Amino acid sequence: MRTLQDIPALRETLGEYRRRGQRIGLVPTMGNLHAGHLALVETARRHADVVVATVFVNPLQFGPHEDLDAYPRTLADDQAKLEAAGCDLLFTPTVATLYPRGLDAQTQVCVPAVSEGLCGGSRPGHFDGVSTVVSILFNLVQPDVACFGEKDYQQLAVVRKLVEDLHFPIEIVGVPIVRAEDGLALSSRNGYLDAAERTTAPALQHTLAMLRDALEAGESVEVTLATGLARLRETGFEPDYLELRAADLGPITATTREAVLLTAARLGTTRLIDNLTLTLPR
Ligand code: PAF
Repeated sequence: MRTLQDIPALRETLGEYRRRGQRIGLVPTMGNLHAGHLALVETARRHADVVVATVFVNPLQFGPHEDLDAYPRTLADDQAKLEAAGCDLLFTPTVATLYPRGLDAQTQVCVPAVSEGLCGGSRPGHFDGVSTVVSILFNLVQPDVACFGEKDYQQLAVVRKLVEDLHFPIEIVGVPIVRAEDGLALSSRNGYLDAAERTTAPALQHTLAMLRDALEAGESVEVTLATGLARLRETGFEPDYLELRAADLGPITATTREAVLLTAARLGTTRLIDNLTLTLPR
């Protein structure tokens, strides 16, 4: 696996792949890789001839009081994992390479509607930062296919709309959430949890599963969500939101069948997100 930091070298290597007629798969990440990221690489391998991963902790998608400085940077470990997973090329640009005029002067991409509410509500500007860096990476790599995890359900919806609206000729593949044995969705931020919090954390997923069962059995949405919020608080979480949306993130209507429960909640200082899809009864 080659690791490249600058754009001309990246373009040269990508040109070699294209001249050989190879289909390119992209896996954008912020590093500190776990089995969830490696599932993205495995999926990209199945959809493409060569896999390009990126590791870039994107300052544009962090709010002023968020964990940009604390975010784990583990490049040597990431390189070893990507190599073992069969990644062909790793691009690790610096902030100055992707945003040469500085963050304040950077042209940004905003995907309306789907970026609003949920994580977009509790993290203002977050999805503009994600949409901007993803657009830059799409322009630089020009992949045939790109893989994103379903744990970041809203992010995946934002990226799908971005690709449609900006006419990127890229197939977007969503990859199912990878969970620890106790149900906790794998996340780089799980490393912030202390031992007691790590024991409590799977309750987020267990609560969603309980709510899904109630909703699929025909319980009222209002009562179920209120029960869920109370249970999360009793367990030690401070919820940012707990919502039921249609699978496309639109509002629930009388005809909605395919739906998704989404939550973000703090455990101590760690913000965790999770989601669960379900089918509402007629
Ligand atoms: O999901 C992530 O790790 C990031 O939001 C992404 C897509 C790599 C953009 O920085």
